[in-house]
Amino acid sequence: MQILGVDIGGTGIKGAIVETDTGELITERKRIETPRPATPEAVAATLRELVHAFEWKGPIGCGFPATIHHGVAFTAANIDPTWVDTAVDSLFTETTGCPCHVINDADAAGICEMRLGAGKGRKGVVMLLTIGTGIGSAVFVDGILHPNTELGHLLLETKHGAQKAEHYCSERVRVARDLGWNKFGRRFGKFLNRLEFLFNPDLFIIGGGVSKKFDRFSPNFTLRTEIKVAETLNQAGIIGAALCAADRTLKAGEDPAGQGG
Ligand code: BGC
Repeated sequence: MQILGVDIGGTGIKGAIVETDTGELITERKRIETPRPATPEAVAATLRELVHAFEWKGPIGCGFPATIHHGVAFTAANIDPTWVDTAVDSLFTETTGCPCHVINDADAAGICEMRLGAGKGRKGVVMLLTIGTGIGSAVFVDGILHPNTELGHLLLETKHGAQKAEHYCSERVRVARDLGWNKFGRRFGKFLNRLEFLFNPDLFIIGGGVSKKFDRFSPNFTLRTEIKVAETLNQAGIIGAALCAADRTLKAGEDPAGQGG
């Protein structure tokens, strides 16, 4: 099935058409700046622009940086606060005229990594963490997603008192505080140690742009748990959102034939 996969982020809204049987992008990726302020109406209008740019008329899968409960956003940590309680699925479906399926962005990336990347075929507890403006998490038990885990909001005891993990060791913090790789590694390692203690995972997968520099900061980790870098990197959110939308489209018994663009 072909689905338009979209990853909505704080700075850019990126999309590509994905062949969900293989997870391959069958078009180039297009990116439009996220509007400011990134209100629901403004983001929906930008999504419509992207849909028009692909001349797309079929189902859409969207990764979104908030917890999404049956299509409704419950939180808004790194996006405009007006998203709280917005029915994102319906808003995007009405604005674009295409059936939209929205899930948390880290959950989308996790689905992609479990099907096609570092988590492929892995049983037990797998935790994917995306390091970006915030820290996203996706938790799988025997391949089944436990959605909306929000582990980036876990409080850590630090020298400066209790701090949310994403306020202590996200990519935004690394850049804003000009943290060296060792210091960043020690901070992120502290977060991983806490997760290891609480959840006893079998595998950590680290995603987000900074994971390309994994070798620079990972020597500071003191972990027992196996840890890998995400394999699908930049595309994971787009592909995972499309895979999720394909599953939901099939489940809903919608006929995707003739809907593709
Ligand atoms: C949000 C999560 C999101 C993560 C990555 C966090 O601030 O609360 O929902 O997955 O950022 O974008």
